[in-house]
This record gives sequence, C-alpha cells and structure tokens, in this order.
Amino acid sequence: MPEVRLVNVTKRYGKIVANDHINLTIKDGEYVSVIGPSGCGKTTLIKSIAGIIKPDEGEIYIDGRLVNDLPIEERGVGYVFQNIALFPHMTVWDNIVYGPKVRCLPPEETRALALEMLEMIKLSARSDAYPSELSGGTQQKTAVARALISRARLLLLDEPLGALDVKVRAELRYELRRLVKDLKLTALHVTHDQEEAMSISDRVVVMKKGRIVEAGTPINLYVRPKNIFTANFVGEANFLRGVVTQVNKDRSIVEIRGGSKLVTKNTDGGVGDPVVIAFRPEFASIVRKKRLNRLSGKIVDVLYSGSIVRLKVELANGDRVVVKKALSFERPTFNVGDKVTVNIPPKDILVYPYPEEGLDRALALE
Ligand SMILES: Nc1ncnc2c1ncn2[C@@H]1O[C@H](COP(=O)(O)OP(=O)(O)O)[C@@H](O)[C@H]1O
Ligand SMILES: [Mg+2]
Repeated sequence: MPEVRLVNVTKRYGKIVANDHINLTIKDGEYVSVIGPSGCGKTTLIKSIAGIIKPDEGEIYIDGRLVNDLPIEERGVGYVFQNIALFPHMTVWDNIVYGPKVRCLPPEETRALALEMLEMIKLSARSDAYPSELSGGTQQKTAVARALISRARLLLLDEPLGALDVKVRAELRYELRRLVKDLKLTALHVTHDQEEAMSISDRVVVMKKGRIVEAGTPINLYVRPKNIFTANFVGEANFLRGVVTQVNKDRSIVEIRGGSKLVTKNTDGGVGDPVVIAFRPEFASIVRKKRLNRLSGKIVDVLYSGSIVRLKVELANGDRVVVKKALSFERPTFNVGDKVTVNIPPKDILVYPYPEEGLDRALALE
C-alpha cells in the first residue's frame, strides 16, 4: 500500500529554489492537499514524486522503496495534469485505454480494465464521445480514469479542478474524495484554492517559497494555525500589532496600538515582546454587554451576503477589522457610521511573535 516519504527534497532552477528541503510523509490511504500561492513549488513537488523531474538533493520513498532513480511508469502513480489534457482527437474510450495500449497489454485485459474504469466514473454510456462533446468536469473525470487504469494506488492531482466553473468544482471535490476513499488510494492534491483543500482533505500542507510552512488537519489549520502565514492564507483573519504587558499562568495581556488591552490565552513570549494578534471575523462579535476585550469603533462598511453580514469596523486607533455575524432578529440592520463594540473572546485570539521580516512581508503571497 502506498505511503510516500520525502526526506530533504530540494530542487533548484538556477537561483530559484523551487523546493527547499521538503520533509513530508503521506500515510497510506490519506488524502493530502498541498496549498500555497502560485509559484511556491507545488507542481515541482508533485512532479518529483511522479518522477517527471529529478530533485537535486534528498530522497523520495514510495512504499518504503527509494524511487529517486525509478522511471515514472514503475512508480505506481497516476498523474492528472494541471490543465485538462485529454487527447482531443480520441474518444473517451481511446483516451482511457491509451496507457495499456502503449504498454502492449493483451486486448481482453485492456477492455476489462477500461470497462471497470468507465463504470467507476459512471461514464459507460459516453465512451464514444470526444472530449469536446463533454463538460469540463466530465473531461477531468476521464483524465482521472486514464490515470488510474494502470492500477496506480497513488493518485497525484495537480490543480485538477482549476479549469472548471465554481459550481462544478464544488461537486467534483466530493466525487474525487469518494473515489479515492472507495478505491483505498493515497492521494496528493495540489491546489491554490484553500477552500477546496479544506473541504476535500484529511490533511493540508501549506507551502510558501519552496518550503513547507505547516501541515495539519483542516480544522486545526483554521482554528489554531501555528504560523501567521497560514492564519492569513487559510480563511480570513484580522491582524493587530501589539506588545505583551502581562504574562500570567494561563492568561496574558496584550496592549494593541493605541492603548487598548486584550486578554489572551498564555503567550510563549515575555513582557515587552512585540506581537501580532490575529482573530477570525466570525469569532468576534458586536456586543456591549461583555466586560472583556471590548474594542470600540465605528462601522465603515456593511456587506450582506445571504444569512451573514460582514462588517468592516474602524477601531479607535485607526486599524480596521472585519467581523462576520449571522443575521438575527435581535439586531437585523447595521449602517455605516454606527458606533459599535467589537468583542473577541480570549480563547479565539491567536498571538504570534512579531515577525522579523515585518508583518506585511510575513503575510505576503509572493
Ligand atoms: N522548468 C523550469 N525552469 C525554471 N524555473 C522553473 C521551472 N519550473 C518551475 N520553475 C520555477 O520554480 C518555482 C516553483 O514553480 P512551481 O512548482 O510550478 O510552482 P506552483 O505549482 O506552486 O505554482 C517558480 O518560481 C517557477 O517559476
Ligand atoms: Mg503549479
């Protein structure tokens, strides 16, 4: 069964370090996504595992076997490319049987495999169609079938849904995950769409500039991101600069710019340390009753979307934060100019050491 292990995998293109000492284990049967901004090295990583490119340093193991020098066809991987890449002049059937034909598999065996693949993607009735006659989603399913007909147990997907409409993408996510789980495959799915990664994967790996920033379950990455870059890249977050003014056993106090004080969970640092606090827009609320962590401000922007209202609030110190709130009878309308109090529960405040390179650079996608 396929377990993938990367040890210090490094790939350079001249001065660019596309993958910089990547260490990662993908467990057997796991659905792992790799996310990160464009150019951070996702495709390079997946191509190294597939065997399309050779890393300059490091080892790649599949099933415990060192595969650095093994050609792609002997690695037991199925690879779906970034752009829909069916052969346009061939039918669905011919696209699917292309690999077995090249490998000169006996025709009966090829036929049986192809029928099984068509059944799997529920396309038996469309085997004579040409790619141009199929929707984008169906084309990508065909590409998956073509990748899996070699009996690959490790499925490598590079932005497989990237070229599709939003709605189709959302549907196909679930189909892809179901397929991988039903067939007991291991999957590595590369995407720049954090929402896609969060909804499809067992575990998400966040990359920036050729390196792994952090890896974790979707929920952990969202609720407790260890790295400030993750807090920004995964979901939405507010960031405020501050200084630690008190450290107690399980509570600390951070004074933000302008003098307001916020109670947080314990911080790693000490009194006087510059920090950045972060919180999710939906974890804050607009109330006057609570005593802790009140920041007064005024609404500068209101956006209703469905059952949620998104408020942009300018705090007394001039910083702006976003608060998301479910609509309620209690207070159905908000208007620009309303004076409000933003309340953030201590447990929902993340505290990061102030980044050495500065906040803007630490959050930057490039
Ligand atoms: N064949 C190549 N030659 C030179 N530079 C490359 C090549 N392939 C990728 N790169 C560079 O390596 C970095 C990582 O690229 P890539 O792995 O494609 O990123 P991603 O898939 O995350 O967008 C980028 O800076 C890219 O320009
Ligand atoms: Mg890419």
